[in-house]
Amino acid sequence: MTARDDAAPARLVVLISGRGRNLEAIQGAIEDGRLNARIVLVVSNKTRAPGLQFARLAGLPTVAIQPRQFADRQSYDAALAHRVAAARPDWVVLAGFMRVLSPAFVDPFAGHIVNIHPSLLPLYKGLDTHDRALAAGDSHHGASVHLVTPALDDGPIIRQGRIRIRPTDTTETLAGRITDRIEKKLYAAALADLIEARVHVAPDGTLIDAAGRAYTPPVEDYD
Ligand code: GRF
Repeated sequence: MTARDDAAPARLVVLISGRGRNLEAIQGAIEDGRLNARIVLVVSNKTRAPGLQFARLAGLPTVAIQPRQFADRQSYDAALAHRVAAARPDWVVLAGFMRVLSPAFVDPFAGHIVNIHPSLLPLYKGLDTHDRALAAGDSHHGASVHLVTPALDDGPIIRQGRIRIRPTDTTETLAGRITDRIEKKLYAAALADLIEARVHVAPDGTLIDAAGRAYTPPVEDYD
């Protein structure tokens, strides 16, 4: 047993809005011992998110918090933060969570929220990333796991995965490979980097390595 093996599993709260493929991949990594963590709560803004069904079948606690029950974004985000905080997360994991989060949510968990974005950030923040990479004629495309800050898709990068764009690629084929080849593995690998302290969040919000130097995120080819 190494020291970290008997460390208490990191507590993860995972936020989803849709299919939850990233949620499934993280739970799979936990179950096969690649990630020393435990998903203590799955939260969705959609009561019928298919990922909630997976979570229930996997025996994970779930809750859906609907925006329309709140007067505005600020009160929704505050209520969401309160519910997430009650689960005492070590890491708040955005996994296909399709709402922009205001400081009312981000601030209480600053430095402890991560997100996966389907592009090689800082390229293509925001939506339609696959279309934009294809339109630009890029040679590669990929996904990035990054710390969440109030600015959209803008926080320090923890780990990236990339694949070559094929001449025959469409939005669908490219998105499919990003999901199936990269995202399935990338999120758990990035969370392991954090949980196993290969990367730390410095007081100023930047990432540093175990020796305290500026962190250079790995960019791996998943072709
Ligand atoms: C994925 O493309 C992910 O990169 C983005 O949301 C999409 C759906 O994720 N964040 P999931 O299948 O709900 O995990």
